[in-house]
Amino acid sequence: MPGLLITFEGGEGAGKTTQIARIGDALESQGLSVLRTREPGGTPSAEALRTLVKSPPSALSPMAEALVFAAARADHVANVIKPALDKGFVVLCDRFIDSTRAYQSAGGGLAMDDILTLEHLSCGDLKPDLTIIFDQPIEDGLARAHQRGPQDSFEARDLAYHQRLRQAFLDIAAQEPDRCQVIDASLEVAAVSEHILAGLRPALQTLTPEGQA
Ligand code: TMP
Repeated sequence: MPGLLITFEGGEGAGKTTQIARIGDALESQGLSVLRTREPGGTPSAEALRTLVKSPPSALSPMAEALVFAAARADHVANVIKPALDKGFVVLCDRFIDSTRAYQSAGGGLAMDDILTLEHLSCGDLKPDLTIIFDQPIEDGLARAHQRGPQDSFEARDLAYHQRLRQAFLDIAAQEPDRCQVIDASLEVAAVSEHILAGLRPALQTLTPEGQA
């Protein structure tokens, strides 16, 4: 595909949304066509599933939760991400497959084989070209998330759950060093953006001319 899929991952309150806005602006100022999107979400139906999974009317089992994320992802990939990549866009996606690996497997206890099956069913062969993993002490992230408003069903989970997530994201980065870059999310906002942009440079050089606005 002519475009690039760049995903932003990490625990709660890591500053991913702020960075996606900043990185998107920086890439657009270089003449690139950029799509900013998020998971769960990115289509009207996937946004409805987001509302459901973040505040479920009754507790969802880890497998039910994983299936909702997979359904939202299948819709998002087919209707938004793949068409944008076909047109040569740089797609900046707030969370993707690694969140399911971390939250539903390391956090929720599902078998990684089941997670990978869902990944294949929802994404086919599509993989992120690059994944930025935001790392910081979990207490800092939860405090930042708390300042944004009332806790959702994920933020409310115990510290041991959030600690497993942090370790899971670091493990993914260690297992797939060509795809993943770990960023220290506790640095100043501008410094985090600089690190991310420096890490993106080699991938951007592979873009075909369709990616230029
Ligand atoms: P956020 O966009 O505010 O981070 O909210 C999304 C929440 O959903 C967040 O707590 C992480 C969680 N999540 C999963 O558990 N699995 C997934 O596959 C995705 C995409 C998100």
